[in-house]
Amino acid sequence: MENLILAIETSCDETAASVIKNGTEILSNVVASQIESQKRFGGVVPEIASRHHVEQITIVIEEALEKANIEPSDLNAVAVTEGPGLVGALLVGINAAKAFAFSHGLPIIGVHHIAGHIYASSLVEPMQFPLLALVVSGGHTELVYMKEHGSFEVIGETRDDAAGEAYDKVARVLNMPYPGGPHIDRLAHEAEKGVEFPRAWLEENSYDFSFSGLKSAVINYKHNMEQRGEEIVPEEVAKGFQDSVVEVLTTKTVKAAKELNVKQVIVAGGVSANRGLRESLSEALAKEGIPFVAPPLHLCTDNAAMIGACAAYMYEAGVRGDLSMNGLPGKELKSWARS
Ligand code: KG4
Ligand code: ZN
Repeated sequence: MENLILAIETSCDETAASVIKNGTEILSNVVASQIESQKRFGGVVPEIASRHHVEQITIVIEEALEKANIEPSDLNAVAVTEGPGLVGALLVGINAAKAFAFSHGLPIIGVHHIAGHIYASSLVEPMQFPLLALVVSGGHTELVYMKEHGSFEVIGETRDDAAGEAYDKVARVLNMPYPGGPHIDRLAHEAEKGVEFPRAWLEENSYDFSFSGLKSAVINYKHNMEQRGEEIVPEEVAKGFQDSVVEVLTTKTVKAAKELNVKQVIVAGGVSANRGLRESLSEALAKEGIPFVAPPLHLCTDNAAMIGACAAYMYEAGVRGDLSMNGLPGKELKSWARS
């Protein structure tokens, strides 16, 4: 495979652009985060996210090209996240990609955000099929089976909150700033023991997830303690919460990996930055002799390199978008492979 792709990602609160060579080599990976400004509101405010993207997008694209030391005429295609995500945020990236593609006579490729998260792993190690990807982020919790490049089968997903959403909400209950995941992770490691919280296994044989009950259990625990005039120990609450999330994610992932006889398990998305989850998955999969890939943290949270990696394979398969491309907030993860 030989191609050079400029990729753009603006689906949530990171304005990102990257140049990717042959789907595996990162020539540049620029991310302008809005976390500092969204912190004040305890979450992402869509209108503010869009405005930030508008301010940053041109600078970020120019920086990505400059750092990669390439000219637009060297490129084979422009790739951009088409969805899912915040529609106003997506549109900023899509319009920038369209303008760039049109003015330089390049094809445009619309990438699914979750496919992008999965393909972050190909920047680390070649993908081995069939594989299973656990995608855990602020907006998603999915187990995806891939029998080859471009083939996606969602075998399990959350029925309510995404794992990252639960982390962020519980962090709020514990008075910690947004995004809460890293804070809970840190606190959890400071506790000796955790508060006992329930595990949502759902029906036997289901690979679906549910985190809203656990979130309510944490809130109820805090209220009960307050009513009794007792202080909660945030570290113990964090550990109890994290243990529950990690145990369910690990158990279901390992079970599916064995049942589907996969050659590789990939973890992706912002929550895969979680130390507890990484350790637990890597230990459990090692026991089963199943190879495990956890990309470095900066490729786990939202970035454009992963979009470029995914687009490289789409480009090879002949997938092209056109200038009628629109932001698709609820875009489904569809296969592009023909078989
Ligand atoms: O993939 P991502 O950057 O954006 C989305 O597409 O949603 O994921 C962001 C989510 C946030 O909910 C954040 O709290 C969570 O990832 N996160 C973590 C950790 N680092 C980030 N959750 C648990 N532990 C972490 N260390
Ligand atoms: Zn994401």
